[in-house]
Amino acid sequence: PFCFSIDKIIPSTEASLHPMDIGLIRGYGIFDFFRTSNYTPLFLSDYLDRFVRSAEKTHLYLPYSKEELAQIIHDLIQRNDLEFGGIRMVLTGGVSANHFSPTQGKLFIFCEDLDFPSPAKYESGVKLLAVEHIRAIADIKTTNYAFPVWHSAIWKKEGAEDVLYHLNGTISESSRSNIFVIKDNKIATPDKHILHGITRKRVLELAPATEVREISLEEVLDADEVFMTSTTKKILPITQIEGHKIGNGKPGPITENLLKEFLEMEK
Ligand code: PDD
Repeated sequence: PFCFSIDKIIPSTEASLHPMDIGLIRGYGIFDFFRTSNYTPLFLSDYLDRFVRSAEKTHLYLPYSKEELAQIIHDLIQRNDLEFGGIRMVLTGGVSANHFSPTQGKLFIFCEDLDFPSPAKYESGVKLLAVEHIRAIADIKTTNYAFPVWHSAIWKKEGAEDVLYHLNGTISESSRSNIFVIKDNKIATPDKHILHGITRKRVLELAPATEVREISLEEVLDADEVFMTSTTKKILPITQIEGHKIGNGKPGPITENLLKEFLEMEK
């Protein structure tokens, strides 16, 4: 496989990064991640906008325009024959004399195999643990996932798919997904302390009456349906949180219908 490294496409095994890059020693960098379907990068413009915005907000210089990045991505898809796959763009904080201040970072674009949840998980729904946590600079797609990587040992032990973050009883998101709740046919999703997901954006287009507002953990546990959205999970039903059954404990009709409509958008 080939990747884009700094300024050119090279064999992926030849890509390298200085070990003192603050991306590594301080967890300071940004990334984004999207998929191809039939060789087409899905919703590419939205992902590139978010990547450019993440660079601006972290004061990292991105040496390519959105149009240039799109061209590089199309070249990579061809070189790797990437019919259905994942593409990860990373911009690191760079090597710095004081090992702290950002400098000119390194840009990498890698192609990956996709790891979707199994069909069984869409049929039964998945389990989340709730945990008191708030992501720092949440609206930026930074490379810092130290908390959930550490915490995943706990949720795996409990047989949970992932976590639900809340602070003082107000929920935000999951470790790598956004959250939606449904009660009496009304859909709602939080807006604060989250990464504004591209999948979330598509759901808001499919269901424009969705309320975008503060949601309490209590409200989530009492919901008829709950689901999570992300690039790889698409729209995944959640049927248990912290041992509480959601609704009747099975994926609900509104969630299933939204997933069906979302899958149509990918075609
Ligand atoms: N995660 N919130 C966080 C913190 C995320 O990291 C992600 C994406 C999302 C969902 O965004 P989107 O719908 O644009 O994928 C929400 C990616 C998939 C990852 O970490 O691999």
